[in-house]
Amino acid sequence: MNSTVIDRADVADPASHGATEPGVAAFLRSSDRPMLVDGKWVEASSGAAFAVGNPTNETILAHVAQADAQDVAAAVAAARRAADDGRWSGLHPAQRSLILNRVADLLERDSEMLAQLETLNNGMTIHVTRGLVQYAISLFRYYAGWPTKIHGATNPGDPSMLNYTLKEPLGVVGAILPWNGSIGASAMKLAPILATGNCAVVKPAEQAPLTVLRLGELLLEAGLPDGVVNIVTGFGPEAGKALTEHSDVDCIAFTGSTATGKQILAASAGTLKRTILELGGKTPNIIFPDADIDAAVQTALFGFTYMNGQGCALGTRIFVQRDLYEEFSAKLSVAAKAMTVGDPLDESTGLGPLGFRAQYDRVNKYIGIGRDGGATVAHGGDNPDRKGYFVRPTIFTGVTNDMRIAREEIFGPVASLIAFDDEDDAVFQGNDSDYGLAAAVWTNDITRAHRMAGRLKAGTVWVNTMAWLDVSCPFGGYKQSGLGSELGPDSIDQFMQTKAVFVKL
Ligand code: NAI
Ligand code: MG
Repeated sequence: MNSTVIDRADVADPASHGATEPGVAAFLRSSDRPMLVDGKWVEASSGAAFAVGNPTNETILAHVAQADAQDVAAAVAAARRAADDGRWSGLHPAQRSLILNRVADLLERDSEMLAQLETLNNGMTIHVTRGLVQYAISLFRYYAGWPTKIHGATNPGDPSMLNYTLKEPLGVVGAILPWNGSIGASAMKLAPILATGNCAVVKPAEQAPLTVLRLGELLLEAGLPDGVVNIVTGFGPEAGKALTEHSDVDCIAFTGSTATGKQILAASAGTLKRTILELGGKTPNIIFPDADIDAAVQTALFGFTYMNGQGCALGTRIFVQRDLYEEFSAKLSVAAKAMTVGDPLDESTGLGPLGFRAQYDRVNKYIGIGRDGGATVAHGGDNPDRKGYFVRPTIFTGVTNDMRIAREEIFGPVASLIAFDDEDDAVFQGNDSDYGLAAAVWTNDITRAHRMAGRLKAGTVWVNTMAWLDVSCPFGGYKQSGLGSELGPDSIDQFMQTKAVFVKL
């Protein structure tokens, strides 16, 4: 584990990263980043900290506290006290709404600072991170409307009995976040967790915790009571595991890899926690010849390069009807060639670096696996000659759906082009996956579009578009893409217990 005693000698000058928003350098310069426990910013009890990097220039942005099981226990205890004394759940629901709206206001105020900080930490282009901040704002706005609209019911049972239900918060929710889009992922968990009156311990990903720590500052500024949200920075097998095993945590909400999701489910079984898992995907993007081909090409490129290819629902298996295959792969390669790979803070950049060294190594390894498995690189497959974890948009042709690059989540800007014969074949191959998070269909035949939407085993189906989510619409997956679903009213249900009351009349 990259544990060091804090020594700032190796931290790059905050000004050297190129962010134009003064708040970014101020945030990086202010101090080492402590964690948030019970409304206070604290170092790890062991004094340990670890370095957080900038994947564009391979320098260190800051050090953050490295939580161990003892620190996690302190954070859980703070959340437990806050949950039990009702300092949050006992407020008037309108008051909770007001505070959540204030969080959205503060995110708006600091939106450019947050976008730039996120870009420095995870390498996603400034256009993407601006979008993620807007997504976080819309999540807080949407869930700010819920506290005053959560109802139990009176049930039509035996007349000698008054029977009603109460909707209660679960108590303490542990939120374990991935590094791809920290600000969006943290809002996706926290907005509904808070709207339902729960308290939380958040563990950001070790690679990209900075915007989550900044969000912690904004939550306090918005007037959230101490201890309602605690943020522990640290590594999965240490801090994350301690959180999943803790008996005072009532629910774990996780986004990340399927392998880690399985470990979390096993670890939370000891205390039988409610477990919500948003895991991997291998989205089929199916192109029929009657589609608008130029739009399908542009969107297919966006569909596997958005977030530098690091998104759970990205369209990494592109199925093209056999007669269209040559034309489509040629056009997609031309589009990929036109994409600017470079500094993600630059407004003209279309693709930034991968999030960190291990992810870069992993994606390069998969490109080798694709070649060794017999697929052909139609575009990319190499790394631009510059510092940073850059991989060019990579298109494999001659791929069959049984190859490893078509079955395993690569999490980089790498697409596999697979031929299909007809609709039945497209459905069969598209569904032939361990995952079932999303699917896309391109056709101008309205009957086929709806037929395909019904036949594809995916939690979300896009027709003539891709990678679209809405805060009001549930998002979840079939098979090994997860357990439960998020967004819309589903997140409200998942973070609440329905209690039945019977009163003898
Ligand atoms: P990961 O799933 O291991 O990490 C996600 C979060 O889980 C991090 O906060 C991590 O610290 C935590 N964690 C790790 N092990 C844990 C444990 N035993 N108990 C509790 N928490 C734990 O993902 P990682 O290693 O960062 O990325 C590896 C691959 O996973 C990627 O290449 C990608 O394929 C996939 N991935 C998929 C995501 C998605 O949204 N579908 C998000 C992140 C990763
Ligand atoms: Mg891992």
